[in-house]
Amino acid sequence: MNALAEIRSRFLPVLESHSDSATELLGMIRPAGDPKFGDYQANVAMPLGKKVGKSPRDLAAEIMDAISLEGLCSNTEVAGPGFINLTLDNAWLKNQLLASLADDRLGVEQVTNPKTYIVDFSSPNVAKPMHVGHIRSTVIGDAIAKILGFVGHKVITDNHVGDWGTQFGMIIYGYKNFLDPAAYESEPVGELSRLYRKVRQLIDYHGALANIDGVRTEIDTLGGQLEQLKAQQAATEEKSAVKKIKKEISATQKRLKAKQETLESFEKKITAVETGELATEANAHPEIGTAVLLETAALHKGDAQNLALWNEFLPACREDMQKIYRRLGVSFDHELGESFYNDQLQAVVDDFEAKGFARTSDGALCVFMNDYDTPMIIRKKDGAFLYSTTDLATIKYRDDEFDADACLYVVDHRQHEHFEKLFDAARLWGYTETEYKHVAFGTVMGDDGKPFKTRDGDTVGLGGLLDDAESKALKIAIDQNPDLSEERQKEIASVIGIGGLKYVDLSQNRASDYEFSYEKMLALKGNTATYLQFSYARIQGIIRKTGADPTAIRKNPVPFEFATDIERELAVKLIRFSEALDDVLVEYKPNMLCAYLFELTQIFFRFLEQCSVKDAQSESLKQSRLQFCDLMSRTIQTGLGLLGIEVVEQM
Ligand code: ARG
Repeated sequence: MNALAEIRSRFLPVLESHSDSATELLGMIRPAGDPKFGDYQANVAMPLGKKVGKSPRDLAAEIMDAISLEGLCSNTEVAGPGFINLTLDNAWLKNQLLASLADDRLGVEQVTNPKTYIVDFSSPNVAKPMHVGHIRSTVIGDAIAKILGFVGHKVITDNHVGDWGTQFGMIIYGYKNFLDPAAYESEPVGELSRLYRKVRQLIDYHGALANIDGVRTEIDTLGGQLEQLKAQQAATEEKSAVKKIKKEISATQKRLKAKQETLESFEKKITAVETGELATEANAHPEIGTAVLLETAALHKGDAQNLALWNEFLPACREDMQKIYRRLGVSFDHELGESFYNDQLQAVVDDFEAKGFARTSDGALCVFMNDYDTPMIIRKKDGAFLYSTTDLATIKYRDDEFDADACLYVVDHRQHEHFEKLFDAARLWGYTETEYKHVAFGTVMGDDGKPFKTRDGDTVGLGGLLDDAESKALKIAIDQNPDLSEERQKEIASVIGIGGLKYVDLSQNRASDYEFSYEKMLALKGNTATYLQFSYARIQGIIRKTGADPTAIRKNPVPFEFATDIERELAVKLIRFSEALDDVLVEYKPNMLCAYLFELTQIFFRFLEQCSVKDAQSESLKQSRLQFCDLMSRTIQTGLGLLGIEVVEQM
């Protein structure tokens, strides 16, 4: 049973008799920040007192008189200006532990009002290799889907693969102009990515060439402005005016720096091509950017040759993507992909036009919405449909097919505006019953504080990242288990390596950028998967050493004993597993579960320091402690499992 939910449900009727926003007040009942205030704290009396004009202390006392916490809390007190401190009853706690021990779900109840969720995640653009950015959507989305499902919701996962975009125009162009047939024969995906990179490089080169003078001029202008501002600053005395100028200086410096960085990257792109082997080809393909767009447009219009090439490339690209998912242990209910919606786009656009939700502006068909400077374009001037058009078609299809209550899009935060507009357009279109949510995440950064790149400035490929993680983990596996067979060591390395990689990502607040580091990822101490996996294996070792059989521990339980304070502390934390899952789902933040598992494990190690299991003072205490060990290891295993991470029995 969820203690917090139970406490809240007992407060609810009493709060309702005082206020019509009782449900909101429930949020003010929370776990106590400090154990000296008990296990939970209800800070409802302060805001309520203010509202109804009563002293919070009196009101708190009144609430406590009216409420029944019989059997649930052993101690309640009103403290300070009107805090209500609540301590769980030990007998209740022990009963909960016994119930969890006997329950595969560790006492986590299923929601009483299950909803249907669609989780749109991973969704890479195929035909270019998956890179480090894709790890985030993949592991965060997978964890959210697993947790939603575990608490009892119906979950439909859909990998909205980008299989219809410009990248295909690029490889089609590359195929027609630069193909190495032997390489394509022996390793099609490798050759296609080479073509992709080459075409990308040539497009970027010509782009840089075309824009570099403009950037230089902008730098000169900004430099001039900066000089002027500095002169102004020197000539000004009035304080507030100086402050204003300083602000302008710093803003100009920032803009200047950004432009200088652009210039640098342009210069690099130009030099790389002109001094490298692509120089002749660059000259031979000056219009490559436009040509690629034309190839994409031809594909979308059903051009026979391009369509045949697309049909030839796609299976290989998809298989390459599946290899990564197999290694990550991630799967999807659907992988419809953008191309699936191709023949539905015209109807979407027609409907928007017919209903008057879209109108032509500058030749493009646009959906205008308040709050935005620019409209959402659903058909370009040249007649092409866009990413947004496909996403609208996807909304309609999913609504017809799955009738979900909510749809979560686990996508990079840079697509924020796209999704805001998309959701508004969907509501305008009549999809008002479904909750749409962009579950956004930040960027993976390198130790230089910039987006994580390889030494040559390429994005870091996901396949290589997994290889690195596994090979680094192999060192740990060998260190920890020198006597195991090589095969076993490799299996362990895969669990530690992949788990570490996932956890490093999941343990960050998804909204922030984070710095990638292999050391941190595989550290044996700290908030890492390795630490939790290691703890799990350690507990298995403890249970093994006592000669106990885990199934027997569960089948013939003894009453739990709190011989020390730490045992009670561990008990409270253990029963809060379901709260941790609720915490994740408030804002779809898996890091809440990581934090819980980490804190739990720290408490558990304090328990181990203070309480001997094998040499407990009595047989019943030993059994009780073994039961703690069993609950503990299953909580780690289940918790990590919900994050898509495995454990090993020995490590
Ligand atoms: N393929 C897109 C990208 O790589 C992400 C798609 C996300 N899902 C969606 N329904 N728009 O940027």
